[in-house]
Amino acid sequence: MPGDISVERLTEAQAKAELARLAEALAEADAAYHTDDAPVMSDAAYDALKARNRAIEARFPALKRADSPSERVGAAPAEGFAKTRHAQRMLSLGNAFSAEDVAEFDARIRRYLGLSDDAPLAYTSEPKIDGLSLSLRYEHGRLVQAATRGDGEVGENVTANARTIKDIPETLAGAPVILEVRGEVYMSHEDFEALNARQAAAGAKSFANPRNGAAGSLRQLDAKITAARPLRFFAYGWGEISAPLSDTQMGAIDRLAALGFVTNPLTRLCDGPDALLAQYREIEQARATLGYDIDGVVYKINDLDLQARLGFRSTTPRWAIAHKFPAELAWTRLEAIDIQVGRTGALSPVARLAPVTVGGVVVRNATLHNEDYIAGRAATGGTIREGRDIRVGDWVQVYRAGDVIPKIADVDLAKRPDDAAPYVFPTTCPDCGSEAVREPGDAVRRCVGGLICPAQAVERLKHFVSRAAFDIEGLGAKQVEAFYRDGWITEPADIFTLRDRYGPGCLTQLKNREGWGEKSAKNLFEAIEEKRKIPFGRLLFALGIRHVGEQASTLIARNYGTWGDFTEAMDSARDMDGPEWERLLGIDGVGAVMATSLVQAMTEPHERAGIDRLVAHLEVEAAAAPDTSGSPVAGKTVVFTGTLERMTRAEAKARAEALGAKVAGSVSARTDILIAGPGAGSKAKKAADLGVEVIDEAAWLALIGAA
Ligand code: IVH
Repeated sequence: MPGDISVERLTEAQAKAELARLAEALAEADAAYHTDDAPVMSDAAYDALKARNRAIEARFPALKRADSPSERVGAAPAEGFAKTRHAQRMLSLGNAFSAEDVAEFDARIRRYLGLSDDAPLAYTSEPKIDGLSLSLRYEHGRLVQAATRGDGEVGENVTANARTIKDIPETLAGAPVILEVRGEVYMSHEDFEALNARQAAAGAKSFANPRNGAAGSLRQLDAKITAARPLRFFAYGWGEISAPLSDTQMGAIDRLAALGFVTNPLTRLCDGPDALLAQYREIEQARATLGYDIDGVVYKINDLDLQARLGFRSTTPRWAIAHKFPAELAWTRLEAIDIQVGRTGALSPVARLAPVTVGGVVVRNATLHNEDYIAGRAATGGTIREGRDIRVGDWVQVYRAGDVIPKIADVDLAKRPDDAAPYVFPTTCPDCGSEAVREPGDAVRRCVGGLICPAQAVERLKHFVSRAAFDIEGLGAKQVEAFYRDGWITEPADIFTLRDRYGPGCLTQLKNREGWGEKSAKNLFEAIEEKRKIPFGRLLFALGIRHVGEQASTLIARNYGTWGDFTEAMDSARDMDGPEWERLLGIDGVGAVMATSLVQAMTEPHERAGIDRLVAHLEVEAAAAPDTSGSPVAGKTVVFTGTLERMTRAEAKARAEALGAKVAGSVSARTDILIAGPGAGSKAKKAADLGVEVIDEAAWLALIGAA
């Protein structure tokens, strides 16, 4: 390790060589962290390397490199690839982890479609490939573009690289004029081993697992490098198409195979949950012999008309699910329990572990959820781990489920040290000293410090600048922490007044800060300026209101359209008997808990003042409702009542919303149309009293062109 010789004793030649090594190691760590989402070192190790780099530069200023890590904040986002907007969004899949989840998936679909338990309903099942998804666009049978998923809306144009993959045909005979083929790029175990051997021989870094190997190879700016890396591709779906491939999923897969794509040979047709589970077990059995990584089995509704009727939630289809394999496990020692204070004040215990490899990734931290979890008590009053508590010094079993934070499953009492004491959960905030209280029914203990608690303030700021929120380049978690510590930024509004408050000297002051240079400082202010214009949904999510996540923020923004209408509606929604409260609850995906939290945050005077201070510096873009041009019901508020005969309530609501209508739960003066089926009662009467238009289901279907 470069840390071996003390900086004072380095010769100039050694210092030069080490600065080069450090620049490379830190650039790699940045890229792994920011671009690949796969950290290769702990924060502490990273900080230590940065500190050493600075110390060497301080001693040998002349050796400071043009690409010095001290001049860099965060990582450049995979610059170099052009961004490209997907004609149709690339979505992800919901997860199932058990047979019950699979049964519920089937039941949910039946409920949505209004099918009885015994109506036939066919699915396909196929392995879930652990690679990265790619969308291939063919026009007139020629490959014109290949794009990574990116954030689902905008990906990276990797066409030149994709052309080097031999499973990807350059031309297709007999394909629809426009055909976007979607599938997974992956690397076989054999090719992965060989690649790592070559990397080692060349003194280059090796890849942690085939997925990283595939990602690193596909996202090479030099397509020649990609060409030398043996990538493969399974086709399993499609995006925009000018003509349907088939009327079933299976038919479409066969068609893709006939066009020359490689499709997975373990794809099967199944007639229900039992057959899906049998197929799951078979694929799980075969897993070790496949020669490539899979992390579960994907189930899809076979009938494409039904897929279309089922449609999508905000980021996942209703007609498909990923049944994940159980997580990988490892045992290690619990070295300490730290308490982190979250942006809502929640005290979260974090396990500090002796480093251990779980499923190809080194794990040092894991979540311990809450005090009951540590004590072995379940929220329901029962026990977890048969009541075994977790103590510092214990041997614990760590697992990773998907990409989420590692967790601790179990503890080995036989290996418990004699002096291990039960963990005492703090009842005061470790950060601000305020009391930490646990409300009845809440599993979590929360610091009551609110806005005075520095930990909460910092976490809120970190959330505010995070990727799905304001995403200000150059202003990440680390920078926010430093700015907060020095009193430069204490609330979101401060970000947008930073430049004015520090006046023309601001650049110089910033430059004098550790880790900042002339260029990064300038870039930061430009990045902040860019984000003064912000979509409504992002702003709402960025506020970090408890229970209001990314999806909900989008839904809410779409529902209210503009920030002004929204804040007005929130003010009125304080009246829980009033129509605005009803309207909020009527949004699909907004429940009473979320609604309460939202209205509280938006109307509590201090909170609201902070929000208003922020918004004063912003231009909030109205939420783009789904494209409903030409929809006869766009902007109308409709209410369904009574029995619907041609579709379920959920489907009716989703379709109406897709056409730009607002679906409310109760009739008011704002209601435009009441759709009344047989058995309609008080709502129909109220509508009549208010002079609201009342139509039946058939008339509604005719109106929306679905009769
Ligand atoms: S279908 C609209 N099928 O898993 C749903 N995805 O967790 C489109 N994946 O982003 C996905 N194997 O990258 C589908 N046989 C398969 C898959 C598969 C792997 C990946 C894909 C997707 C992710 C979702």
